[in-house]
Amino acid sequence: MSGSSIGVIFKVTTWGESHGPAIGAVVDGCPSGIDLTEEDIQEALNRRRPGRIASSSPRKEDDSVKILSGTFHGKTTGTPISLIIENRDVNSSAYEDIKDVFRPGQGDYTYFKKYGIRDYRGGGRASARETATRVAAGAIAGKIISREGMEVIAYTKALGGIVIKQEDDIVKKISCEDIADNDLMCPDPDAAKEMGTKLEEARHSGDSLGGIVEVIVSGCPPGLGEPVFDKMDAALAGALMGIGSVKGVEIGTGFKVAEMTGSQANDPITTDGFLSNHAGGILAGITTGQNIIIRVACKPIPSIAKVQQTIDVQGNPVELSIKGRHDVSAIPRIIPVCEAMVSIVLADHLLRQRINSKYK
Ligand SMILES: Cc1cc2nc3c(=O)[nH]c(=O)nc-3n(C[C@H](O)[C@H](O)[C@H](O)COP(=O)(O)O)c2cc1C
Repeated sequence: MSGSSIGVIFKVTTWGESHGPAIGAVVDGCPSGIDLTEEDIQEALNRRRPGRIASSSPRKEDDSVKILSGTFHGKTTGTPISLIIENRDVNSSAYEDIKDVFRPGQGDYTYFKKYGIRDYRGGGRASARETATRVAAGAIAGKIISREGMEVIAYTKALGGIVIKQEDDIVKKISCEDIADNDLMCPDPDAAKEMGTKLEEARHSGDSLGGIVEVIVSGCPPGLGEPVFDKMDAALAGALMGIGSVKGVEIGTGFKVAEMTGSQANDPITTDGFLSNHAGGILAGITTGQNIIIRVACKPIPSIAKVQQTIDVQGNPVELSIKGRHDVSAIPRIIPVCEAMVSIVLADHLLRQRINSKYK
């Protein structure tokens, strides 16, 4: 099946390709009576838009969103909310030369093997253009979870091997203002400067960079998450791995936990609460009420100007240098997308928990 939907009660389906007439999302299962205007969604979309920094794609899209259904007099009605964003700055010319060639690191080869046909223009459905629809849907999810006191903040933790300086407990202190200080959405201004230089170097040499995004959820109540296959950590990892370029997701202390002993890794519980948070706010797939801490590893952007080896659809070897309008790194544009996916998962699990608690 197509795999274009996520969620059980708060269900999001996205549609559209990079160079088609439009992209969009249908959000079903949103409760009625929530204040929702196009401006609310637009604010979130503006943070993801290309062209904010020199190293992002020069494609100029205003990402204007229209709500086609599901609201009346500025409030949700409980019926499906349909969102549409037109693709206005489409230029497929750079893709004509490579329409029969598989870009290394991109979905060209696998889409062709799976479907036998692919929309090569701008990466088609595998393009990060699709992530705009997730951010739009995520803005609606954000409204649901913020009513319950939850806040989702994501920021750049590392880019091109440069890692922010971070006290152990700084994750509890980072605020939206810290991140708004620079275009890389990085709370460490010195590291942000170095990252900016590294991005420019990569751009000039025709290469690209990967990095790590950290996501913190504060104000999450205990009890969200559905054992066993829909554990909160499984749901979050699945939602985040569903974003293009994401190759790893860690919760709490993550992979480092494998080097620890039980007495180091367990978070002691006292009458005043937990003394540490190696679990990242989730135990047995259920939220503990502590901050949820997630790290997301993004690979470098695959479309690069440097010459690479590949093959064409007939299997002939080809040397490829990619032109067109590409980001140098998924960071920082992926940050609002990570926030959106986490918000969508939390909104769905919040509504699912309401059903669990009905008869208590
Ligand atoms: C915000 C964002 C921007 C991206 N920009 C580009 C881009 O300009 N060019 C490109 O080839 N890939 C870009 N990607 C990465 C591709 O979408 C992704 O690598 C590709 O679909 C292959 O999927 P995979 O990396 O999950 O294997 C971007 C990803 C994100 C999340």
